[in-house]
Amino acid sequence: MSMRMSRRQALAGMAVLAAKPAWSCGTTASLRDTACRRGVRFGTAVASGDLAQPAYARLVAQECAVLVPTWEMKWGAVQKQSGHFTFGPADAIADFARAHNMMLRGHTIVWHVSMPDWLSQRLTSRNWPAMLAQHMGAVLGRYRNEVAEWDIVNEAVEPDDGRTDGLRDSAWLRAAGPAYVAEAYKMAAQYAPQARLTYNEYGIEHHAPWTMKRRIAVLKLLERLKKADAPIHYLGMQSHLRVGDTFDAAAFSAFLTEVRDLGIKPQVTEMDVRADRIPNGAEKDAKTADLARAYLETVLAAGCDTVVCWGLSDDKNWRAAEEPDDRPLPFDRNLMKKPLYDAIQASLAGTSL
Ligand code: XIL
Repeated sequence: MSMRMSRRQALAGMAVLAAKPAWSCGTTASLRDTACRRGVRFGTAVASGDLAQPAYARLVAQECAVLVPTWEMKWGAVQKQSGHFTFGPADAIADFARAHNMMLRGHTIVWHVSMPDWLSQRLTSRNWPAMLAQHMGAVLGRYRNEVAEWDIVNEAVEPDDGRTDGLRDSAWLRAAGPAYVAEAYKMAAQYAPQARLTYNEYGIEHHAPWTMKRRIAVLKLLERLKKADAPIHYLGMQSHLRVGDTFDAAAFSAFLTEVRDLGIKPQVTEMDVRADRIPNGAEKDAKTADLARAYLETVLAAGCDTVVCWGLSDDKNWRAAEEPDDRPLPFDRNLMKKPLYDAIQASLAGTSL
């Protein structure tokens, strides 16, 4: 029998290999394994203190293939004082991800919220490149072999600030001008050449006048980034959904097509589903699940390969202070699955509930 494989057979074999996820999948019904079998990574944001809770840590290890620090890699956490870096809490999350064969996402470098006062006050048109380079060198450099994807710039658009380019009137914009976004991605690629780079944004998922303005601003920004040859691989959609707000799957799918046409893939980076307008009970949980399913089916159909929730259980809700009784995450406070879990699992499996 000839041992020589025909070119057609070789290419067919490569196509089959390419069709399989680049990583091996487990056979359980967990969100991690269900997503993996679809070539998708499921995960969660964690605070370093969360992983010191044994039951929660076990749940994260069971359900997640991706971790992202909620706070520990932000400027306000790693460089509180100029030139002094604190990496312990972020290292703990990176260690947990490595120990459980998880992909680590980095969040975030340039964001108007987590800026220490010394940074906001000192940033000028002359010194911002050096200040950003020092920070990236320290942070992206430290995790260059661990963080597979970085949210380099977060929430840079704000149409209500009145600029024709739709950019947020932030300390970064005032110091560095509108080109700071593209420059940040070019700089990031130098310090983390292996990482895929994400532009992360909120308020583009639902269908309302304010979100339509944000979608236009995001698309204009992504077009400018591509024109400037900025290395941008993903649009991170924070996906902070809210029951009662309109979700128009067809219109959102059309928006995602425009994003894909730019050579940029969509990601779900911070998903939770508020249902603060409905009292706790079966209706609240059912409508939460329905919205999550409609949303995830739309983004998965558009080639989304990453679905990250901003926490796994309701006690980790980042809005708990304002909405202590809300149920926006897949597990309840006792770490029991909810209808939202089933909706996420069914969406990832591509099956009907
Ligand atoms: C939130 C964290 O979860 C909170 O712990 C912190 O107090 C504020 O920031 N969009 C983002 C995230 O991009 O960085 C925010 O995380 C939630 C909204």
